[in-house]
Amino acid sequence: MRKAFLSAAGALLLGLVGAAQAAEGPALPHEKWSFDGVFGTYDRAALQRGFQVYQEVCSACHGLDHLYYRDLSALGYSPEQIAAIASQKQVKDGPNDEGEMYDRPHTLTPNAGRGTRSR
Ligand code: HEC
Repeated sequence: MRKAFLSAAGALLLGLVGAAQAAEGPALPHEKWSFDGVFGTYDRAALQRGFQVYQEVCSACHGLDHLYYRDLSALGYSPEQIAAIASQKQVKDGPNDEGEMYDRPHTLTPNAGRGTRSR
């Protein structure tokens, strides 16, 4: 029963893909990506180049409000590298003993999770 359902679903999918290709005109050339297939993986160097482009170009206009510094571990950065990236940003802190607010480099919260402890 399950097998029959799966092959019916597969046939339906193939049919849909075929129909879509016929409607869209010329077929696109097939590219080989490192993330192709079930066992595909992302190319870390490419991910980190993408983040560099984001930092140098896109971040002028696009923010990352919904991400945490610890999320950078998904791009293959070590906790030390993440702390170094975070420290490039200044944050407001204080008040100090004179009652003044002041700027200091961003640090990571200890035990913030997923191995991004600052040391
Ligand atoms: C000078 C400011 C600026 C820079 C730099 C910039 N963007 Fe944008 N981006 C915008 C604006 C403004 C829009 C919205 C355009 C619109 O809605 O018509 C936009 C829209 C987008 C969209 C479409 C979002 C959607 O909802 O369809 C994507 C994707 C995007 N930008 C990616 C990037 C990437 C990737 C970079 C860096 C390579 C980048 N942007 C750099 C200003 C910028």
